[in-house]
Amino acid sequence: MIRVKAIYPGSFDPPTNGHLDLIERGSKIFDELVVAILRNPEKSPLFSVAERRNMLEAMTAGFDNVSVETFDGLTVEYAMKVEASAVLRGIRAISDYEYELQMALMNRKLQPKLETVFMMPAEKYSYVSSRLVREVAQLGGSIDCLVPPLVGQKLREKMDPALKFADGNPAEGRAPKRKARKKKS
Ligand code: PNS
Repeated sequence: MIRVKAIYPGSFDPPTNGHLDLIERGSKIFDELVVAILRNPEKSPLFSVAERRNMLEAMTAGFDNVSVETFDGLTVEYAMKVEASAVLRGIRAISDYEYELQMALMNRKLQPKLETVFMMPAEKYSYVSSRLVREVAQLGGSIDCLVPPLVGQKLREKMDPALKFADGNPAEGRAPKRKARKKKS
């Protein structure tokens, strides 16, 4: 029996509901799906690779055949290293097509054995991108329907680190208790 393993490469800074939608669709057609976060030292991301990995792991915990990894260098080389035969990418609108086509054809030139598979996320996510989510969050807009709750919380914490220790956020714990000061006598 042939098992088809795919990688879903990207920056995921941060992961969005659109990414999650695509992961869910990909997990249904591939036997194994590796969400592969690019470690790109040239970019200065909002979230570190470790933070993105943690968020994606939490988001995909319910999918048995999905794992989360990081990579650097060429996508095609990483795909060959993990013995994947396909690259999954999402196309939201015509505007994505040109860039995605260019990338798919370049990847095919570099590694003819690797196929790129395009899938479309649900229409309701067709306008959602990590860049816009970052921008809206940075300007104080609501991103609640655009990202999973965990990512929303992490974004709010990035914008206002004091929230990390706010009441009602047990996931992060509270600020370490200060030692009681000795009363001055
Ligand atoms: O989510 P993004 O940022 O659109 O993902 C782009 C990504 C990571 C898939 C692309 O930049 C990539 O594949 N980078 C790895 C380097 C590489 O292989 N470059 C040639 C691509 S044709």
